[in-house]
Amino acid sequence: MKLYLDTADRDRITEAARLGVVDGVTTNPSIVAAAELGYREAVTAIADVVDGPVFAQVLADDVEGIVREARGYQEWADDVVAKIPATRPGFEALARLRDEDVPAGTTVVFSIEQAVLAAKNDASFVAPYVGRLDDAGEDGVDTVRRIQHIYDTYGFETEVLAASVRNTTQAVSLYEAGVDAVTLSPDVLDDHVPHPKTDEGVAGFEAAWGDRGSPIDE
Ligand code: E4P
Repeated sequence: MKLYLDTADRDRITEAARLGVVDGVTTNPSIVAAAELGYREAVTAIADVVDGPVFAQVLADDVEGIVREARGYQEWADDVVAKIPATRPGFEALARLRDEDVPAGTTVVFSIEQAVLAAKNDASFVAPYVGRLDDAGEDGVDTVRRIQHIYDTYGFETEVLAASVRNTTQAVSLYEAGVDAVTLSPDVLDDHVPHPKTDEGVAGFEAAWGDRGSPIDE
């Protein structure tokens, strides 16, 4: 299972990477704009601090423009994957990019049908938006589970990358569903760490040990 970070904040990426669990970073135009960075600036800065792919979304909405941007992103860093929205021009561009071996996948995915088109197109990933599906009155986790099941049944190699994950409850349900990959905000990743009983347990051990000092100094 891959775990990506969904941010363009270099400090949060550096901090999260120290946990040793980050396989790459996803971005989108909202995230980059909020960081007050240019897209190229954001991607090159992220590539400097993370091992693994940096996902960069195209902004063009026509086939030629999407292809041009996805090709161009390859020049920015060693491991850039283009994120292409699940629109008609997006799927047409994906087919072109597949034939050129440009790494690209399908994002802003809201249906199983779109996910099937992505897989048939050999997209490198498909990103269903869990939180936004819930906002729309659907069950985001269940949609991901069904996509993963269909992909596993047919042996599609496209990575199911659950996005728009808002909390650890959704994340845990996605892990239970055996999803290939999730992308998490730094806050949701941070929320994976603490548990009051862990703090209580550690405090108990420290109290029991008292002032004996570190075992390594014995
Ligand atoms: C995925 O790669 C997107 O960047 C992201 O997860 C979208 O999530 P949002 O619904 O929080 O904007």
